[in-house]
Amino acid sequence: MNTSNPQTPVQTVSQSSALTQDELKTLVGQAALQYVVPGELVGVGTGSTVNKFIDALATIKDQIPGAVSSSVASTERLLALGIPVLDANAVERLSVYIDGADEIDHHGHMVKGGGAALTREKIVAALSDKFVCIADESKLVDVLGAFPLPVEVIPMATGRVVRQFAAWGGHAVVRQKNGQPLVTDNGQHIVDVTGLQIRDPLAFEAEVSQWPGVVTVGVFAFQRAQVCLLGTAQGVKTLSF
Ligand code: 5RP
Repeated sequence: MNTSNPQTPVQTVSQSSALTQDELKTLVGQAALQYVVPGELVGVGTGSTVNKFIDALATIKDQIPGAVSSSVASTERLLALGIPVLDANAVERLSVYIDGADEIDHHGHMVKGGGAALTREKIVAALSDKFVCIADESKLVDVLGAFPLPVEVIPMATGRVVRQFAAWGGHAVVRQKNGQPLVTDNGQHIVDVTGLQIRDPLAFEAEVSQWPGVVTVGVFAFQRAQVCLLGTAQGVKTLSF
């Protein structure tokens, strides 16, 4: 089992009073502004923590030409706040991508996709020089796998993918919404997998990514974070990987 990496540089900005989880999200969302490069586009993730970042980004929107978004939900929020959104294909590279995570380990490997946006998140992350993860401290783990692992799958392959995870000792279910399989922004389904401990995230991502019908696995090891802004009771901790 991985233990905390004593060599991970940690920097803390102190906070005097106890903060709610929502306030911690606001804090890390605002802290992420320091990584936005004036005059350059920024990659924007998806989720409740990223929503705080988008709100903060609106306060400096005059300093950037716009954003590349990882979901319909983030696009709508960006546009509503007057931040232009560019198509990913119009962009060769981004200096930074800001996104949340469901889990992050001490090497910057993550599980993502709780908001079902993992495929577009991985695409925008791959376009970016630096991935800055914003999360509260409950997301920091020694070994990935406690949070249900999202996998985006073409609908006709979900049965086989569920059986493949069962053969590995996992338990996989197709995510539901209003009594029906949830449909992603890309028209696909999500399989959520529990019961696995992902001790080699790179090997796991490489293996599952090539299963027929798998669009994207929610392990982000090839597109890991270089920085994590972690909201803690003591304030924002900066982890560098
Ligand atoms: C969406 C994601 C999110 O980054 C992840 O689910 C964390 O979300 P939140 O900030 O709401 O906890 O991967 O697909």
